Amino acid sequence: MPGAIYAEGLVKTFGDVTALDGVDLDVPEGTVLGLLGPNGAGKTTAVRVLTTLIRPDRGKAVVAGIDVLKKPNEVRHAIGLSGQFAAVDEYLTGRENLSMVGRLYQMSSRDAKSRAGELLERFNLADAADRPAKTYSGGMRRRLDLAAALVVSPPVMFMDEPTTGLDPRNRQALWEVIQELVAGGTTLLLTTQYLEEADHLAHDICVIDHGKVIARGTSDQLKARTGGERVELVVHEREHIPLAVEVMRPFGKGGFTVEEHTRKVIVPVSGGARLLAEVIRELDTRGIEIDDIGLRRPTLDDVFISLTGHVAEAGEETREQEGAAT
Ligand SMILES: Nc1ncnc2c1ncn2[C@@H]1O[C@H](COP(=O)(O)OP(=O)(O)OP(=O)(O)O)[C@@H](O)[C@H]1O
Ligand SMILES: [Mg+2]
Repeated sequence: MPGAIYAEGLVKTFGDVTALDGVDLDVPEGTVLGLLGPNGAGKTTAVRVLTTLIRPDRGKAVVAGIDVLKKPNEVRHAIGLSGQFAAVDEYLTGRENLSMVGRLYQMSSRDAKSRAGELLERFNLADAADRPAKTYSGGMRRRLDLAAALVVSPPVMFMDEPTTGLDPRNRQALWEVIQELVAGGTTLLLTTQYLEEADHLAHDICVIDHGKVIARGTSDQLKARTGGERVELVVHEREHIPLAVEVMRPFGKGGFTVEEHTRKVIVPVSGGARLLAEVIRELDTRGIEIDDIGLRRPTLDDVFISLTGHVAEAGEETREQEGAAT
């Protein structure tokens, strides 16, 4: 059974640019797929193909069980797309804009009003609800746009960088609304530049670059693939480095990195915080004074950088140093 969003071998070229180069996707119903990739990777193009806004040169796409190429109109009725279908009318107030969307979707006037009020509250627009949208700031307009996309909850939603330009509080508010939607059975494809967002919201993550899927899996799977956790230790005396390495060896999984100038020793480990306590005890027993010690887990940022090759030409050591610097 293909999922609620399914794509096979999508290809889309614009002149010399191959925006999509054989993309396959399969998003199970009621889950969130986070589509990540550097600028120009093809994320928006994928969203536009799946939401019927452009036709692919090749490939197949099925959304909510409907063939995107054969029945685009039916697909449009089954999906929501933030920032596209939600055209804000400048001269209407925020409240009127949202009620109007509800009415367009055949809600009763009462339901449309109540949903509008609820969303204005959720997106911290209640104070500005009765002002024309043309008086809104950029971030307010963005939130109104998102709220408009959320008036009805279609079975399948697409959000292209929904939280770009939102402050942390409003980003949090959107995350909550998204989680409620998904708990209610909505399937969501979300593109984002905020890896923390994908980490927080997405069941599965798909990383694309140059129009190709270069990795997929859960956030944890991708992190494990990048190299798991490590202990970073800074000794007080430079002369203690060899001794520290000796103490750490039984705890590590091989492959030490030593940075003489910062007196830092980095050891890939598995075993988490308990292991850290043991390491500290052992160092203490051997009289090695430490300035700093910590367990570092790879973040999705590490995954992204290692996958998309921003430091691909550099060796493991450089990556460790980059990590240490953050
Ligand atoms: N209408 C178009 N005409 C010409 N080239 C296009 C068009 N749309 C997209 N492209 C090109 O296709 C490639 C993929 O663009 P796309 O917008 O899908 O990237 P993206 O992953 O969404 O990037 P961003 O993170 O910057 O939003 C880019 O090289 C872009 O310049
Ligand atoms: Mg884009």
